[in-house]
This record gives sequence, structure tokens and C-alpha cells, in this order.
Amino acid sequence: MAEDMVVDTVPRGLSAAQKGKGKVETGSGRQVKGGPWVEKYRPTSLADVAAHKDIIDTIDRLTGENRLPHLLLYGPPGTGKTSTILAVARKLYGAQYQNMILELNASDDRGIEVVRQQVQDFASTKSISFGPKVNVKLVILDEADAMTKEAQFALRRVIEKYTKSTRFCLICNYASKIIPALQSRCTRFRFAPLDPSNVTERLRYVIQQEGLDVTDGGLAAIVRLVNGDLRKALNILQSAQMASPHLTEEAVYLCTGNPMPKDIEQIAFWLLNEPFDTSYQKITQMKTSKGLALVDVVRELQPFVFSIDMPPAVRVQLIDALADIEYDSVTHVFVVALVITSLVGIYYPLLYGSS
Ligand SMILES: Nc1ncnc2c1ncn2[C@@H]1O[C@H](COP(=O)(O)OP(=O)(O)O)[C@@H](O)[C@H]1O
Ligand SMILES: [Mg+2]
Repeated sequence: MAEDMVVDTVPRGLSAAQKGKGKVETGSGRQVKGGPWVEKYRPTSLADVAAHKDIIDTIDRLTGENRLPHLLLYGPPGTGKTSTILAVARKLYGAQYQNMILELNASDDRGIEVVRQQVQDFASTKSISFGPKVNVKLVILDEADAMTKEAQFALRRVIEKYTKSTRFCLICNYASKIIPALQSRCTRFRFAPLDPSNVTERLRYVIQQEGLDVTDGGLAAIVRLVNGDLRKALNILQSAQMASPHLTEEAVYLCTGNPMPKDIEQIAFWLLNEPFDTSYQKITQMKTSKGLALVDVVRELQPFVFSIDMPPAVRVQLIDALADIEYDSVTHVFVVALVITSLVGIYYPLLYGSS
């Protein structure tokens, strides 16, 4: 009966029919109501997980040899941490994997009493495995950095107590938020943001499976906007293609509310070439007419500053000033214009004098 209880604590919205390469509808049979693509295209096996080849190989080997240590998977969102451990569970336990794992999220009640009780109930029941001979169960603590220090200390004891029958996998964004005592009990793997090439490849696959009409510019825009977060990429792709079936670069920027690169270029041009008040007026006007937010403009200006040729000392000052504005979230474009024009005013003579 405890087994049943365990099943109830693992509500994953993943039915076998939703996934698997062969099962995804292709071409003409485009599903509008197929649920979120992040779930539909969640990798089912370790081989499906994109990038992180070294990590996956290591985990795959340990899993295969039935020598899985406690794990700490950390790194930015949307890089495949949850997918990886679920694929491990599938490999260990086969299709019945949901009976063999206990998955606790930050949204569940994770006062340490509850965790201790749930883990105890889960770990102390006999494991009936259907797949290859396995003798350990798996407890997944997703978003473990949201646990209080006290809960983490108590968890350390729980881990020790159940190490014989249970493996723990902690998942979080920042390893530094996990107490050292827990870290030292786990093997750590850092999931880096995915390469643009990995994101592009995975998006191409989804585009082809769904039979979408996406231009190269549109695809590149998504890849540029998400900074290696594949979950975000899939979400943008799904919502943007609903808004505009012919997905161009412009459509992507419109859908996400980001300023277009050409607008940013225009703003930078004004800042560098126009007198202060003209540039201020024009930028304010553009902000109003295109509904741009200053923080977005400042953020997008930053890579632009890197692409202009200038002495390092000048660049550092500019970036520093932009960072101050972004951090203080000063709501006036005035300040940006002032900072940039004055810096350029000060340094350009220097620049030309020296070259
Ligand atoms: N490395 C990856 N390979 C394939 N798909 C990925 C990868 N990383 C993320 N995804 C996609 O993004 C979604 C979210 O991934 P997830 O593993 O939950 O990320 P995390 O736990 O790191 O935040 C997955 O359902 C999958 O569609
Ligand atoms: Mg996750």
C-alpha cells in the first residue's frame, strides 16, 4: 500500500504517448493542441539529451554499472538537468520508473518533517523492480536551492540513513546555495548553457517535426534571445508560431517584446552622432512609438558596445555606466544619453589623438 502512496507523489504530466521520436506527428498533421512542446519534446533517453556529452557519458556508464552515486546537478534553467535524471530513472527501472522514484519540487511542502517522512515511507518499502536487477531507489529533490539551511542539514542525516537503499539527486541552479556538507556527499555535475549550435539543431528538429514555416532569420533570432536555455527557446517557438505562422525575425522580436537589432543600431547611432538633445528626443520618440522598455534597450546596447571598435579603457567605462543604469533601473532614457554622449565626448578626442 505504501507503493501506491509513492505513485501519488509523482505527478508528472508525461504520458508515454506524448513522447518518443517516432510518435510525434509530422508534416501536415500539425497539432495545435498538443500541449506544451517542452514536455512533448523532452528527451526520453540519455542519448536524446543534447550537448553535455561528457556528463551524459559518465552518468550513463555509472547507471549501466549500477554504481550510481548521489548526484548534484546544477546550472542555469532549461539545460536538461531534470530531463537527464528522468532519463536515468527510465534506464534504471524501465517503463515502471514512476514507481521507483520520489520526486519532490520546491512547490511541494518541503518542511524537513515532511521530507523526512516521505523519504522514510518511500525508502523503507520493498522495491519491486521489473526491469534489470536494481536494488536502489531514486529520490529527486528538484530546486534544492530553495530549501532552507535547516532543512538541508536535516537532509544530510536522511541521506546518510538511507544510503543503502536509496540514491539522492539534488537539482539546483546555484551549487553555492547547497551547504558544503551536502555537496561533499554528492558527485557534482555542472550543466552549462547550451551552445547556439545545440539549440539550433534541436529547434530545427522540432520545426521539422511540427512542419513549421520558420525563416533562417527567425530561427537565429530565437537562438540569440535565449542564451542557451532550450526550454525558453521551445516556448518562444511555440507561442511565436501561433501568432505568426510565417515566422520571421521580426515576428520573433515582436512576440517576445524585445527591441529589434536594427532599432538598437539606430539608437546607438543617434547616441554617438547626434547632439545630446536631438538624440534624447529621437530615442524617447522611438520608445513611445515602439513600446520599448529602457531596461531592454540598455541590455541590448551592451553587446553592441562590444562590437564597436574602441580602446578597452573606453569600453570598460561605457559598460560600467550601462550596468549602473540597468542595475538602478533608472527609468529615464536621459541618463543613458547623458552618460554615453559625455563619455564619447571625453574619450573620442583621446582616441583620435592616439591613433
Ligand atoms: N540538453 C537538452 N537536450 C534536449 N532537450 C533539452 C535539453 N535541455 C532542455 N531541453 C528541453 O527543455 C525542456 C526543459 O528541460 P529540463 O531538463 O527540465 O531543464 P532544467 O531541469 O535544466 O531546467 C525539456 O523538456 C526539453 O524539451
Ligand atoms: Mg528542472
